[in-house]
Amino acid sequence: MFITFEGIEGSGKSTQINLLHKALEKVHFDVEITREPGWGAIGNLIRKIILENPDLDLEPLAELSLFCADRAQHVKDFIRPMLNQGKIVLCDRFYDSTIAYQGFGRELNPEFVKQTAINSALGLCPNTTFLFDISVNTALSRIVERPGRNRIDDESFDFHSRVKSAYLEIARNSSNRVHLISGEEDIEAVHEQIKEILSKNYSIFSRLRKK
Ligand code: TYD
Repeated sequence: MFITFEGIEGSGKSTQINLLHKALEKVHFDVEITREPGWGAIGNLIRKIILENPDLDLEPLAELSLFCADRAQHVKDFIRPMLNQGKIVLCDRFYDSTIAYQGFGRELNPEFVKQTAINSALGLCPNTTFLFDISVNTALSRIVERPGRNRIDDESFDFHSRVKSAYLEIARNSSNRVHLISGEEDIEAVHEQIKEILSKNYSIFSRLRKK
């Protein structure tokens, strides 16, 4: 079972991944957490180029290629082997990020970016995606306080607005897979909502229901 988490900066993804991880382990699931970009030796090198060098003038098409290279390697070296062992994999960002950020944030050709992003997953599609939606103002006010902000965090209000709209369109077009959740609500309430969606949609997750 492959579950991905998406949203603009500061939407609360990481907090919710950690809470779900704990909740699943508590009822004896074998779970792995991972993220993009930056898994493994190759992923870490790619992450450094894309995010940690604000002085590099990275051409948008080069940025797209690097995110996709990171994903292909991540799927081959880590996600697929974990899924083949029967584990549940929780992934912080996957190809929807590329469609939203490079296709719409960077304003590359959206259809080309979508095909490239999907191809980079080597045939793997998330079973379920949780998309956390917050206003751009909330997002920017949350990341101002964050240590170690990256090159994309520092993009303009308009850039983040385009990414947010793209995500909402993805949710509309893939409503069977993508669950839209308000990231402005209380952390515990959001966590309960996630457990409810999983237990309602997948019998293996019925153990997550409150007794
Ligand atoms: P990161 O520091 O991992 O934090 P967070 O996910 O909490 O924002 O930032 C990753 C950044 O990379 C984020 O700004 C989104 C961006 N990104 C893309 O632009 N395209 C992609 O395909 C992926 C996976 C991430």
